[in-house]
Amino acid sequence: MNSLSIKEILALNPVGQDVVVNGWVKTFRSNRFIALNDGSTIQNIQCVVDFESFDDALLKQINTGAALKLTGTLVESLGKGQNVEIQVSDIFVHGAADPETYPIQPKKHSLEFLREKAHLRVRTNTFAAVMRVRSALAFAIHQYFTQNGFYYFHAPIITGSDAEGAGEMFKVTTLDGKNPPLNEDGSIDYKEDFFGKETNLTVSGQLEAEAYAMALGKVYTFGPTFRAENSNTSRHLAEFWMIEPEMAFYDLDANMDLAEDFIKNVIRYVLDNCQEDLAFLEKRLLDEEKTKPQIERSEMPLIEKLKFIVENNFKRLTYTEAIEILRNCKPNKKKKFQYVIDDWGADLQSEHERYLVEKHFKCPVILFDYPAKIKAFYMRLNEDGKTVRAMDILFPGIGEIVGGSQREERLDVLKEKMAALNIPEEELWWYLDLRKFGTAVHSGFGLGFERLVLFATGMGNIRDVIPFPRTPQNAEF
Ligand code: 4AD
Ligand code: MG
Repeated sequence: MNSLSIKEILALNPVGQDVVVNGWVKTFRSNRFIALNDGSTIQNIQCVVDFESFDDALLKQINTGAALKLTGTLVESLGKGQNVEIQVSDIFVHGAADPETYPIQPKKHSLEFLREKAHLRVRTNTFAAVMRVRSALAFAIHQYFTQNGFYYFHAPIITGSDAEGAGEMFKVTTLDGKNPPLNEDGSIDYKEDFFGKETNLTVSGQLEAEAYAMALGKVYTFGPTFRAENSNTSRHLAEFWMIEPEMAFYDLDANMDLAEDFIKNVIRYVLDNCQEDLAFLEKRLLDEEKTKPQIERSEMPLIEKLKFIVENNFKRLTYTEAIEILRNCKPNKKKKFQYVIDDWGADLQSEHERYLVEKHFKCPVILFDYPAKIKAFYMRLNEDGKTVRAMDILFPGIGEIVGGSQREERLDVLKEKMAALNIPEEELWWYLDLRKFGTAVHSGFGLGFERLVLFATGMGNIRDVIPFPRTPQNAEF
């Protein structure tokens, strides 16, 4: 007899038939009721054991966390909480779990405690639900782009260029750290290194994606990116996944339209396909909120919040308009912001972004036309000579979720920008080539995948929406 997943059993409902299920014990009550889960759904299946028919030694092995294969008949359940249950006729213990040492017991564990047990935390309902939603979002992203004429492009992970110019890169080297080959001036001689030059883990696949957009038209990356920024926040990871579409012949307006449509579409996908997990996560959040002071509680339950995003237009305004709002807002005047906004040109901090989204507009916001000075070198300069065609999408509870721009396609302007920022032309000769041969208006953006998962699941810390988080001082597992 082939085994069925719990999801299949609950969908097919083959009452009266014999079934085989494999899974892990969530709870074992009264030496009689096993709640079994196999990850296929958040629902457990109740399996009823007649303890007189089995050995004590065998029953002793049925503890929370044990892996079992159960054979039995699916029957209608008379008990509360489930429609069907399995009347168990045979038990095979794949592997027991010692109740003295197995850390994931059927009680509430703190998220901090579970972070220390990242290899086991997915056995909790919360993490299993988050990871199923994460997987569904990834699928929805590939589906969206494929259906909209994009090609999936694999950007290199090891690169020689610093796309964002922020210098927050992890070095990749095979040189001996204790005794590296040196140049005459005492600096490290990277010509001796594996690649014959300095290389890093990529912070973004954008520059390479631009090369591909200039032939395939519309491409997107979806891969890991790395940033050695020492920000220990609930929104930053040192290794995170980014989705970066890049489109030839798109200006900034078309770019913003795409980004908004894309986000709405993938959120709609999880609303349609992850109902049970979202319902569970919504309840988890409501329980958690009850323990918080009133002012910190979010205004909408999770599912309503996701529907709100799908059904409403994002508010679009320029950086300059945003600065006016911020300069004149109460928290700024009362110096409640950590960084008070005085002048045009100030970089926006997450407190400002969240004020705009959560307090002022109460909806997602797209800010565009930022000062050139606070944005990357590749963004297209506006006629005013001081702003660039940048756009950031700001989300409630998250802050920046997307950063993108129309790219500078004019060779002379790009060269001037690079010179001003001391970016050597030799380093990006190939990027400049794209402006020499068949250059065209083009645009793209980057969506931080974990920030999207954070939003979609209502979790509060980015460390809890990626399986094995990498953050400063933490690369266990
Ligand atoms: O705004 P960023 O730095 O933009 C780029 O990298 C561009 N090259 C994208 C492009 O135009 N193709 O990063 C894009 C997004 C941010 O909006 C944020 O959601 C996410 O990536 N992000 C991070 N997520 C988690 N941890 C970090 N340390 C992140 N840094 C950026
Ligand atoms: Mg950004």
